Amino acid sequence: MGNSWLMHCRSDTFCRPVVGRSFVSAFGLWLLAVPVTLFADEPRASSAGPDPAQLAAELTAHVEICSMCHDANLVAGFLRTPAEWDEVVARMQSYGTIALPAQFSLVRNYLLRSFGRVNINTAPAADLAPVMDVQPESAEAVVAYRKEHGDFKSPDDLKSVPGIDPAKIDQRKNRLVVTP
Ligand code: HEC
Repeated sequence: MGNSWLMHCRSDTFCRPVVGRSFVSAFGLWLLAVPVTLFADEPRASSAGPDPAQLAAELTAHVEICSMCHDANLVAGFLRTPAEWDEVVARMQSYGTIALPAQFSLVRNYLLRSFGRVNINTAPAADLAPVMDVQPESAEAVVAYRKEHGDFKSPDDLKSVPGIDPAKIDQRKNRLVVTP
C-alpha cells in the first residue's frame, strides 16, 4: 500500500512541493552549519591575535582624546616603555587632557600596542598583551611560563610558550627586550 502511494506520488505533479521541501531542509541544514563553523574557528582565533572590536575601541579613544591639542600622530616615532608612556599621558593630563579612566586605559593599550617596548622578564600580563599584540590569555601564559622556567634569555624563547604564534614574536622582536 505504501509503495503504491509512493508510485502514485512520484508520478503526480501534486507531489512536486516535496522537492521544494527537501531544498528548504537542505538550506536549513546549511544555516545550522554556519554557527557551527564559526564556533569551530574560535580556538584558532584566540591564539591568532586580539579582538578586532578591542583594536577599534583603542584607536577611537586615542584619536578622540589625543587629537584635541595636536595631531594624534605626534605619538608615532619611537618606542617607549609602559612607564615612559605613563609619564607622557600624565604630562598631557597636566596640560588639561580630560577623559574617563576607561578611555585612558584604551589609549594606554593603543600606545603600547603601536609604540610600546617591554622587558619580557618583568612586565605584567597587562603590559605584555598589547606590546606582543596577543590576547590577554596568551600574555597570562607568558607570565605563567616565566614563573615556572625562570627568565627568558631572548625574545625567541617566547616561542616555547604554548599558544604563542612564532611569527608574532618575529614581527615584534625589537619591542620585546630582556634587559631594561
Ligand atoms: C590639552 C592639550 C593636549 C592634549 C589633549 C594632548 N596633548 Fe600631547 N602635547 C600637548 C602639548 C602642549 C605638547 C608639547 C609640550 C610637551 O612636549 O610636553 C604635547 C606634546 C606631546 C608629545 C610630544 C612630546 C613627547 O613627550 O614626546 C606626545 C608624544 C604627546 N603630546 C602625546 C599625547 C597623547 C598620547 C595624548 C592623549 C592621551 C595627548 N598628547 C593629548 C598638549 C596636549
